[in-house]
Amino acid sequence: MPVIRTLSKVAKQALLNPGCGCQPITVAVRTISFSPRQVTSDASFHSVSFSETDHPKVLITGGLGQLGVGLAKRLRKRFGNNNVILSDIRKPPSHVFHSGPFIYSDILDYKNLREIVVNNRITWLVHYSALLSAVGEANVSLARDVNITGLHNILDIAAEHGLRLFVPSTIGAFGPTSPRNPTPDLCVQRPRTIYGVSKVHAELMGEYYHHRYGLDFRCLRYPGIISADSQPGGGTTDYAVAIFHDAVKTGKFECNLKPETRLPMMYIDDCLRATVEMMEAPADTLSMRTYNINAMSFSPEELAQEVQKQLPDLEVTYDIDQVRQAIADSWPMNFDDSNARNDWGWKHDYDLPELVQTMLNYIGSDSRISQAN
Ligand SMILES: NC(=O)c1ccc[n+]([C@@H]2O[C@H](COP(=O)([O-])OP(=O)(O)OC[C@H]3O[C@@H](n4cnc5c(N)ncnc54)[C@H](O)[C@@H]3O)[C@@H](O)[C@H]2O)c1
Repeated sequence: MPVIRTLSKVAKQALLNPGCGCQPITVAVRTISFSPRQVTSDASFHSVSFSETDHPKVLITGGLGQLGVGLAKRLRKRFGNNNVILSDIRKPPSHVFHSGPFIYSDILDYKNLREIVVNNRITWLVHYSALLSAVGEANVSLARDVNITGLHNILDIAAEHGLRLFVPSTIGAFGPTSPRNPTPDLCVQRPRTIYGVSKVHAELMGEYYHHRYGLDFRCLRYPGIISADSQPGGGTTDYAVAIFHDAVKTGKFECNLKPETRLPMMYIDDCLRATVEMMEAPADTLSMRTYNINAMSFSPEELAQEVQKQLPDLEVTYDIDQVRQAIADSWPMNFDDSNARNDWGWKHDYDLPELVQTMLNYIGSDSRISQAN
């Protein structure tokens, strides 16, 4: 039992050292990784197998959503096709299925998840499965299962197998009592959606596992993400993607948020690059485990005006969705991401004009190709 005794001693020390400056203890614990689930069931411990000199072997959960396929493409370019496995509970479209490894994985199935991690010698886990804000409000109990119970499975598997774990959080992790303009990394977080509550829970649990068990937990709070080739999954910022498709296809757009609703936003390339940079950042550059990242901030009115510079005939009308509006009104208007910029050099590439130009070029050429076919 000497290992258990050493671990209890280290854990006790960590508990007695309440500040965030837990670096020396974290390093000591990180040499042996275990999960509370393992301790209670069979008290077996696993050594960390990840070596910084190897290419990581990455598993992406919820990989068929707006962000996963793009992240897999980027990581596969960097680490090799077979080193990045996409997973989801949905059937992948043929081009995704043929572009690299895909596997069925329901994050609520702990045993299956563990089998995938073990059989594929996974070292990095990017946890994208979630129900987003608007969809979560429409199905609270499923959101609670996927976003909270699912996260517990992920945390235990990651701790047990010494994985580096990335879990995205969101502007939705803040609420009406948070400072909104700008919102700093550390402030009151009392969100009013199940999505936001589950993301605060994820931030806190991840940080707790980091300090308690040495889990290499990394988390970025994404703003609303805008992408041309993947559809958003039911969030409050979806309008900022839909406007481009409708503008190109019909010349008309009906917005479900009020014209003056200002929210932080980011082009998908910046978001995915930030994710890879955060995952690769040396541990000693991270003064925190959860960071805000930002690029721009705009309202529907300002976005429409920028689109109209390219497509002057675009007609925009407003039909407010009360659920989404209430959510947006409780979220940050502007995000303070100075800690990410100072600690690990975060820098965005896309501001509003570049975003609009890129989206219209992409969607325009896409619709010209489909018309020609
Ligand atoms: N897209 C954004 O604007 C945005 C902003 C902030 C944070 N995020 C976060 O980034 C992550 C990815 O976002 P996204 O936009 O790609 O989400 P999405 O809704 O488009 O995709 C989520 C995926 O999770 C899958 N999923 C649902 N239940 C599952 C289960 N039980 N097991 C396995 N997979 C399951 C779904 O099939 C879906 O493909 C999420 O955690 C989200 O909270 C996204």
